[in-house]
This record gives sequence, structure tokens and C-alpha cells, in this order.
Amino acid sequence: MSLVERLRADRNLPDDELKALLETDRFDEELYKAADEVRRSVYGNGVFLRGLIEFTNYCKNDCLYCGIRRSGKADRYRLSKEQILDCCKEGYKLGYRTFVLQGGEDPYYTDDILCDIISSIRSLYPDCAITLSIGEKSEESYRRFFESGANRFLLRHETAEESHYSKLHPPELSLSNRKQCLFNLKKIGYQVGTGFMVGSPYQTTENIISDLRFMQSLSPDMIGIGPFIPAEGTPFESFPQGSVKLTLRLISVMRLMFPHALIPATTALGTLHPQGRELGLKAGANVVMPNLSPVEYRDKYSIYDNKICTGEESAQCKDCLRIRIESAGYEISDSVGDVKRIN
Ligand code: 5AD
Ligand code: FES
Repeated sequence: MSLVERLRADRNLPDDELKALLETDRFDEELYKAADEVRRSVYGNGVFLRGLIEFTNYCKNDCLYCGIRRSGKADRYRLSKEQILDCCKEGYKLGYRTFVLQGGEDPYYTDDILCDIISSIRSLYPDCAITLSIGEKSEESYRRFFESGANRFLLRHETAEESHYSKLHPPELSLSNRKQCLFNLKKIGYQVGTGFMVGSPYQTTENIISDLRFMQSLSPDMIGIGPFIPAEGTPFESFPQGSVKLTLRLISVMRLMFPHALIPATTALGTLHPQGRELGLKAGANVVMPNLSPVEYRDKYSIYDNKICTGEESAQCKDCLRIRIESAGYEISDSVGDVKRIN
């Protein structure tokens, strides 16, 4: 059996074979094909859309890679509850059945404020999923958001090795807390997403293998990866961008290791390649996250440079995505798109 066939059959490979698979493009076509077959066998040809609402670009953290870090020069904004609800209304009209509230770690939004926003969305849209992507909080806070109606949470671990984590983050952030947050979220009952940047500064193949091993221990419901893209004004502004090819290869590897995972073809992938998201879908991804934020704020949520879709109205993005998804051989699913659990 080939390496790809064994990865598919066992959903696993020893480290040295994973390394061999990741470090060459020799297996790419075979990987994409196997990943697409597995994706179709679990989820069919549907692509789930998640309406992304970037509700604040204030952040108390200072991650070295991120364009909205505390010490960066971003032009700051916050959306009011009414503005957020307007985004949901627009998204619902467009057919979206998942709203993703994403923001920097912004203390302005206290637990009470967030719970009020979440429960309003929950009562207006009982048939929709509410996903949070708001960083590290206490277990108690996560529990309150869940009880208010949030049911999914995205929190990338960013890298699973201490030595690498400390090169990407300031000393007050720790990998152990990040991992603890992920396990707390699972325990509470969220569908949990994690992930990392491909080609972040100092990343090695060994780091990526550790990322895969960490994900095996977490069994995430969602896995988001995208290439690192330098952001102007950050300490990493002059580092090279991540590789589109390696990102696609990893999407396929993750589809084979985690057949049931919801895997987005990310905006970062679409930013580095005009057909990046289509290629991501063909490599095994089954989610796209169109931007629902008000157009006047979009270019301010500049976590990296040259981000796509900042000038398009939400309806334009939807039309554009339909064409892209269909051209890649898939179709938009109108279901809420919960994870299909293994057992
Ligand atoms: N390039 C690519 N992705 C980035 N992220 C943050 N900064 C960058 C960057 N410069 C990713 C992180 C974060 C997610 C919201 O965006 O992985 O978790
Ligand atoms: Fe936004 Fe194409 S998806 S313009």
C-alpha cells in the first residue's frame, strides 16, 4: 500500500512517514483524490457557509504575527449589538444558518454584554448555530456563553510545541492555558475548532507533526488552517508568507486523519492564490466563511495584509462564492452543518 492508502486506512502514520509525506509534492495528486473521496463519503458534495461577523478589532493581546495586536496601528472599531443583529438579519436572508462572532480579546465586551448579544441572536434565529471566536476566557465564562445559546467555538492552538509557541506569543500567553481552554470548551459541550497557521515564522515539519498529534488528543470538530501572511507593522512583517501547496497538502492529510472534521477553505488561502478556496475544497475542505461584517469596517479587521473580500457587499460575496463552489464541483448546502460525530 502507498503512504496515502495507509494514512487513509489507519487515519494515522508514524512520525517519520508523516514527515516524508509533508516534505514532498510527489503524493499531492493522490492525497487530494483520497481526501475528496473521504469528504464525499462523509459529507457528500455540500459546502457549508458560515457568516463571519468581525465585531471588534480591539485586542488586549500582542501576538507577534497579528495585525490587530495591541501595540499595532490598526484603526480600531467595535460593533454595537444592533449592528451585530443587522449582520445576522442580512446573513439569514442570504441563507446562512451559522453566525460566527469573531473578535480580538476586547474587555469592553463583558460576559454580561456578550450573553445579551448571544441570547438575542439565539431567540431571533433558533434554527441557526452560533459560533464564538473570541479567544481565551475562564471556564465559567465559556459556560455562561453556552447557556446563552452559543454552541460552537473556534480557538486555534496556533502551534502545539512550547518552544515554538513562545516565539509567536508574548510571555503572558501560554500554550498550556490555550490547551486547557480547548478541553474546557469540549467538556462544556461546544463543537470545538482548533488549528494553526502554515508557515508561521520558525515553524518546522516536526512542529506540524506535533500539531497533528495534539489534534488527535483533542478530536476537534472543526480544523482551520491557513497560510501565514505577514502583516505590516508587526514584528513578523518581513518574514516570508506560508506555502499554499503545503496548506493544501495539510488539508488533505487532515481530512484523511479526521474524516468527520469540518474544515474551512480559509480566506487566507484565498488571499494568497486567486483560486485558493476552490483548491482547498478540492483538497478536502467543506466549509467557507464569507464575511458578513459591515463593509465600512472590513478593511480595519486587518489581521494580515491584502485580505480579500473587504470591498464586497455580503450579497456579492454570496454570489461570488456560489460560482466558485460550483466551478469546483460542489454545491452550497442550506443545512446548519453540524459536525457528524464518529460514533
Ligand atoms: N497570517 C495568517 N493568519 C493569521 N492569523 C492571525 N494573524 C495571521 C497572519 N498574519 C490567524 C490566527 C488566528 C486566526 C483568527 O487568524 O491563526 O487564530
Ligand atoms: Fe467575497 Fe468572492 S467571496 S467577493
